[in-house]
Amino acid sequence: MTSLTLKNVLLLGGTLVGVSQAQFGSHELYTSSPPVYPSPNATGTGGWQDAFARAQAFLAELSLEEKVEMVTGTTGPCAGNIKPIERLNFNGLCLQDGPAGIRQAIYASVFPAGVVAAASWDRSLMYHRSLLMGREFRGKGAHVALMPVAGPLGRHAQGGRNWEGFSPDPYLTGVGMEESVRGMQAAGVQATSKHYIGNEQEIQRNPSSNSSNQTIEALSSNIDDRTMHELYLWPFANAVHAGTASIMCSYQRLNTSYGCQNSKSLNGILKEELGFQGYVMSDWGAVHAGVATANAGLDMNMPGGIGFLDPTPSFWGANLTTAVNNGSVAESRVDDMVLRIMTPYFYLGQDEDFPFVDESSSVINFFDPATWTYNYTLGPVVDVRDGHAQLIRDLASAGTVLLKNTNNALPLRAPRYLGVFGNDATEPEDGLYSLNLLAGIDAGNYEDGTLAIGGGSGTGRFTYIVPPLEAIKRRSSQDGTLLQYVLNNDKLAQNPYFWNLAPTPPEVCIFFAKTWCTEGADRPNLDLEWNATALIANLASICNNTIVVTHSCGINDLAPIAANPNVTAILAAHYPGQETGNSIVNILYGDVNPSGHLPYTIGRNVSDGVIPLVNSTELLNTTDPNAWQADFTEGQLIDYRHFDARNITPLYHFGYGLSYTTFNVSDLSVTNVDAAGSVPRLPPALPVQPGGNPTLWSTLLRATVTVANTGEVAGAVVPQLYVSLPQAEAGPGTPVKTLRGFDKVYLEPGESAEVGFDLLRRDLSFWDVGAQQWRLPTGAVQVAVGLHAGDLSESTSVTV
Ligand code: BGC
Repeated sequence: MTSLTLKNVLLLGGTLVGVSQAQFGSHELYTSSPPVYPSPNATGTGGWQDAFARAQAFLAELSLEEKVEMVTGTTGPCAGNIKPIERLNFNGLCLQDGPAGIRQAIYASVFPAGVVAAASWDRSLMYHRSLLMGREFRGKGAHVALMPVAGPLGRHAQGGRNWEGFSPDPYLTGVGMEESVRGMQAAGVQATSKHYIGNEQEIQRNPSSNSSNQTIEALSSNIDDRTMHELYLWPFANAVHAGTASIMCSYQRLNTSYGCQNSKSLNGILKEELGFQGYVMSDWGAVHAGVATANAGLDMNMPGGIGFLDPTPSFWGANLTTAVNNGSVAESRVDDMVLRIMTPYFYLGQDEDFPFVDESSSVINFFDPATWTYNYTLGPVVDVRDGHAQLIRDLASAGTVLLKNTNNALPLRAPRYLGVFGNDATEPEDGLYSLNLLAGIDAGNYEDGTLAIGGGSGTGRFTYIVPPLEAIKRRSSQDGTLLQYVLNNDKLAQNPYFWNLAPTPPEVCIFFAKTWCTEGADRPNLDLEWNATALIANLASICNNTIVVTHSCGINDLAPIAANPNVTAILAAHYPGQETGNSIVNILYGDVNPSGHLPYTIGRNVSDGVIPLVNSTELLNTTDPNAWQADFTEGQLIDYRHFDARNITPLYHFGYGLSYTTFNVSDLSVTNVDAAGSVPRLPPALPVQPGGNPTLWSTLLRATVTVANTGEVAGAVVPQLYVSLPQAEAGPGTPVKTLRGFDKVYLEPGESAEVGFDLLRRDLSFWDVGAQQWRLPTGAVQVAVGLHAGDLSESTSVTV
């Protein structure tokens, strides 16, 4: 037994510090996680019963050592690998990143980032993004896709990974999760909803060593129970409801207990309350104990060893066998792990005709096949891109948000003289892949070249990028437009006289600006990078028709350019994937009418609504192992909820986005499915199904509105429905309003349509901490519909 085992025993209670509750303002935050044992066993309930029976038959064939190998990762061709068992015709499991495509493989597509899917507000595109991605994973022999992302949710505007997921709004993210899980699994590939839970910043997401070689524990996200349910857990509940095969537990601590050994969040919330039937997989290297993690509900240790690359030493593996043999972990717990892993495998038919891992799927440049501990049968290199470029282009256009458009600057109408400016307009100069573990986290933050995806495990290996300049060149030559460009940002800082434009200024000037984000780091600020804000002002000083396009991971400080009268249009295109140039040309020239909407709020003052990251020189030099604490004292009041609660008008509201046409919303009507007041306030006790109490998902109200296209061109409108619960009843910290419905509807000029919204019990309830249940208010609920969070023209109140 090693000292590691001793540590395991000490941590068996699942907590790292004493059990005390502290007051933070009006919030009682947990400073410990209550122990919840034993880990609930899966039953296959909710439609997986047949697959569960097959998993049981499979399990019956395994020795203890084999069971342990089924739950402990090892080396191999994929980002994560479970060993094959030839005797049982089991070829092992191949796990691959990530949320924008099968990251490391060649001949695969790079899709728009999650934030673009969210900005499209288009359920069907969200689903199809994931479905096509899933076909690529399957084609390359990946059984498990390490996506979609609901954590980070986006508490911090500066969070380095927000773009991998959808939105700081849990409802919008919940829809993104549900559609992504369904799309991925419809392609026969297991979805891994990650990172569960509270992984809101990158700094100190993992433990570190200080200069005295002392271990400083990872940041603890301290989240109260109500905020947990109504905000951070909400989209994971959608993922479980949609049947996600796996949930990845996160690196950081939650209420002082590590994310992958937190019995409250894994055994209690996920498996008991939400009825999750799949398996909890650790993030890579997030396992810091053996017995404690196994008993707290972790089901698969990835990549298997303590470190990133080597399967030994491991807290699991042979140590887990020992723990079972000495009674520290019940063999039934390991059995449950295997059942949870194999049930979705059989459910998705992965035992039949599943392609072998494509040899290009391997991280061949980094991981040496000589270190693989097992023989893998690899398949040939296949091109899985198929016709996916079209969806990629359409989604990126649909997710492009038009924030400003004065003097009808857009769409362009075959301008005679056009200028393109900025270092984001052209080919990336540093290569096509932004995950270079040796080059560091800034590897993709090259100065010259367009930014089409972020960095870290959520990046993608491009087979091509269509840079904006290339697509604009093609269009300009068709139109007979004289095109000029200055791409070097240093040059753009000079007096425009030195740019040698003729004529000066061009009729239209388009500036492409970018902002880099990556796993492993948070943003230093919310600026457009490479001095772009100053350069745009310089350009606008000579060009009174300056159009700005941003390629960014999320919130930027746009106030200075929004206020500049010579900046006539602003488009937020985020990270659009490989077809970036084509998608933006479609929008710029009006081939596609913009219909994207912000999935977050942008303040007038850059600090409005921005929750600072936990970070300081003092913390970086601390000798207190528990110094890194993030108290989520704002509760649910992040993003537009913050602006609402303090009555601050933002620069651009949540849900905002212009079109080349105009829309009108009218005739809101809301009807009760059952007579008002007749449904019980708490959900009737029913056996838990994936997603929790099944009545949480039943419709209690139906709302309808009429939307009309009142302009001259066809376009898509997104009516958004917000619910306000009675504050007195729901209590302090209740958001003024929360998004609870949206739809995207395409309308010809003059056309109108009726749009319906189903409001579920969960949508109309608040989490009652005392009852540990979702409670419906008895008082009137306000329902409002409009075109964005600051423009809710229709509203009514109704008693549920
Ligand atoms: C990331 C995960 C990723 C895993 C495997 C981790 O560092 O946090 O999101 O899936 O690596 O690459």
